[in-house]
Amino acid sequence: MTSTNDIRRSFLDYFEGQGHARVPSAPLVPHNDPTLMFVNAGMVPFKNVFTGLESRAYSTAASSQKCVRAGGKHNDLDNVGYTARHHTFFEMLGNFSFGDYFKEQAINHAWTLLTREWGLDPNRLTATVYHTDDQAFDLWKKIAGLPESRIIRIPTKDNFWAMGPDGPCGPCSEIFYDHGDHIWGGPPGSPEEDGDRFVEIWNLVFMQHLQEADVIVSDLPKPSIDTGMGLERIAAVLQGVHDNYDTDTFKALIAESGALTRTHTTGDNQASHRVIADHLRASGFLVADGVLPANEGRGYVLRRIMRRAMRHAHILGAKEPLMHRLVPSLVSEMGAAYPELVRAQPLIEATLLQEETRFRQTLSNGLRLLDEATASMAEGDTLPGETAFKLYDTYGFPYDLTEDALRGHGMAVDRAGFDAAMAEQKANARAAWKGSGAKASEDVWFDIADEFGGTEFTGYTSTEGEGQVVALVKDGARVEKAEAGEAIILTNQTPFYGESGGQMGDAGTLGNDKGLKARVDDTSKPLGRLHAHHATIESGEIAVGDTVHLKVDAVRRDQIRANHSATHLVHAALRNRLGGHVTQKGSLVAPDRFRFDFSHPSALTPQEIADVEADVNAQIRRNEAVSTRLMTPDDAIAAGAMALFGEKYGDEVRVLSMGSLDELAYSVELCGGTHVAATGDIAIFKIVSEAAVSSGVRRIEALTGEAARQWLVARDERLRETASVLKASPEEVPARVAALVEERRKLERELADAKKALAMGGGGSAPAAGPEQVGGVAFVGQVIDGLDPKELRGAVDEAKARVGSGVVALVAVNEGRASVAVGVTQDLLASHSAVDLVKAAVAALGGQGGGGRPDMAQGGGPEGGKGAEAIDAVRAALAEATAAA
Ligand code: ALA
Repeated sequence: MTSTNDIRRSFLDYFEGQGHARVPSAPLVPHNDPTLMFVNAGMVPFKNVFTGLESRAYSTAASSQKCVRAGGKHNDLDNVGYTARHHTFFEMLGNFSFGDYFKEQAINHAWTLLTREWGLDPNRLTATVYHTDDQAFDLWKKIAGLPESRIIRIPTKDNFWAMGPDGPCGPCSEIFYDHGDHIWGGPPGSPEEDGDRFVEIWNLVFMQHLQEADVIVSDLPKPSIDTGMGLERIAAVLQGVHDNYDTDTFKALIAESGALTRTHTTGDNQASHRVIADHLRASGFLVADGVLPANEGRGYVLRRIMRRAMRHAHILGAKEPLMHRLVPSLVSEMGAAYPELVRAQPLIEATLLQEETRFRQTLSNGLRLLDEATASMAEGDTLPGETAFKLYDTYGFPYDLTEDALRGHGMAVDRAGFDAAMAEQKANARAAWKGSGAKASEDVWFDIADEFGGTEFTGYTSTEGEGQVVALVKDGARVEKAEAGEAIILTNQTPFYGESGGQMGDAGTLGNDKGLKARVDDTSKPLGRLHAHHATIESGEIAVGDTVHLKVDAVRRDQIRANHSATHLVHAALRNRLGGHVTQKGSLVAPDRFRFDFSHPSALTPQEIADVEADVNAQIRRNEAVSTRLMTPDDAIAAGAMALFGEKYGDEVRVLSMGSLDELAYSVELCGGTHVAATGDIAIFKIVSEAAVSSGVRRIEALTGEAARQWLVARDERLRETASVLKASPEEVPARVAALVEERRKLERELADAKKALAMGGGGSAPAAGPEQVGGVAFVGQVIDGLDPKELRGAVDEAKARVGSGVVALVAVNEGRASVAVGVTQDLLASHSAVDLVKAAVAALGGQGGGGRPDMAQGGGPEGGKGAEAIDAVRAALAEATAAA
């Protein structure tokens, strides 16, 4: 028997031998088409090569492309399990010519491979051509020698292939295999064509045109070839079976699910095992390509696929989660051809286990409700939409799962009723939101979210991608079109992170090849589900429905990433150094810096700051990969993740593990932000400040990467400048500065002493003139610039001692302010009071009051320039007092 792996290999070998480039499968999430949920044909990754937008190093190629048809335009999910040839995941073998060969070579290759290389009986093959394509008709006659009766002209869309309303297209020719007259059915175009006897195995598309909105608008630069052959179908043919599920790969997976559930794989169980095998492949490959279960977009399609399989595991009586135990079989069947499956095996297993554990908690209750609801129903009846909604809302049954469950009983579900119940719930949610005081302007976001669901965020894995414009908001209202100026742009998917969890929104650009150029200044996240690009349109215009290319400013994002990851490391370091009472109280993650608030009663000591800094930098140097897992909040917390108290988490959370200490992860936190791939990407961590925010809460401001480097360089520069002024080396700066400060202190002291001495007429210079006489009383009056006010009393006492009998008034002027002290010797106290005299001085200085004892009084005033006037005032007051005496 030829195995499926052999067939894939021999297809690629054949075309490689014919000069085709062997191109690995592109990931399932398309990078070049925002309207497409998953890659669903082999040509999708080459779309832009056909149209000439993109060029490659080769002009012919062959691939085995992973495809998913579930959700979006092509949705085969509902049929899987009940037919021989429907799959959610399948592989499409294809050969392509980009303006190289055309019809003749394409037919020649197909015929040669099928009949010569693989030895299919030419008598079992039939070809169809588009009804007007005489050329293809003649080529089939010439190359394959097919009789005209087995070259069938088909006038319908079946023989005109287009990847979608927009894109390359052309007439096509399909090859059918006749499985034999033991199966009912007729050749294509016959009344029995719907039977299963003649199975299409290969489609050759003669790509010639480009269409827009289903209308051909131009020819491709060069006629090209796109072909597609379902690997599962050709494997059935080459393995001599009729049913895709009887080929080797599926048999192995089904045998394993039979063994693990200890059930037969035929009869009543057949559909369940098929669903499980098919959905296992889809789930495994989607997770390997970065899709995780979610409540929006691709993640929700994945969740529906997973839950459908899990319900069938339950039907088979599985008592424990089953799907994750089948992953080793999947990897052993397909891992050699798709190494991404091997790399992602642990993640696939963990994701399936988590999803199944969660779903099982409500599955049996939900099924009980369903049984009760259907007990009174008969075949042909319809389940009320409200019940289907309750199953969805309370038990996590996606709509199609309920439909699938009823299908076996010949019952349907009231879709309109389900939609109405959903709409009512949304209206209630809106009312509740409004009740919480939200502004009327929130209405516009509710409208958009109700209509399109949340935005799918693609930015965990890339910073660039396409999106389709679903809504435009200008001045708070929705518009269909926008040009030059500010507008808020919403797309169905985006790599732009919307501000949340302390992390700032992304900035970048947005544009298309029709001349639109816009700058995205910020991205917000209204309702926690929409990513709103706050843009300035610089040229061109944008309309709802347009496809735009979204490009995050990657340098800025990398800085944000590094800063965000550093907040996790610093959180862990603070807890390790200060204790478990430390918890995050807030953060701001910007591109150029970050701040981190945490609970702690006192300022950090310089040593603590140094230790935290050293710990974080040690983790950075370990450069270990940062891992992300999806978990329920409860599981995550049980696994030791730090959750933020008071923070609302959804049904599932991303759990970030970073660094290591004693064989354990250094930091484990719940976080929806974007992070570095490995801690080394943070490069450097530097705390630049530590201060109090409020009682019991401290704030650290810190830098990473280039910002930290620049900060350190600037610090170093300041040190060098200082050293150069000091004419010393940087190492000598601290000692030299300490010496200078000490010297200055000493000089200041000396200067004050000198001034005092000078004022008192001492100081060893010219002997001061004797005191003047005012009304027979000796009077010393002096203004001393720069005398420390604290020295004033001492100076007055000294002067008093020197005159023996008299009055002394001294004014000290410092930084524009004046202080004054007046002293009266003991013998004159009967007739003079220092308190009275000082009041006159204070008034002259623009001050108020002044006081003390009769022998010594003090005061001051703001008018430092009036020292002489103050002395005059004392002199005058003294003159008056002596005159009166
Ligand atoms: N693109 C063609 C198909 O999907 C080959 O059928």
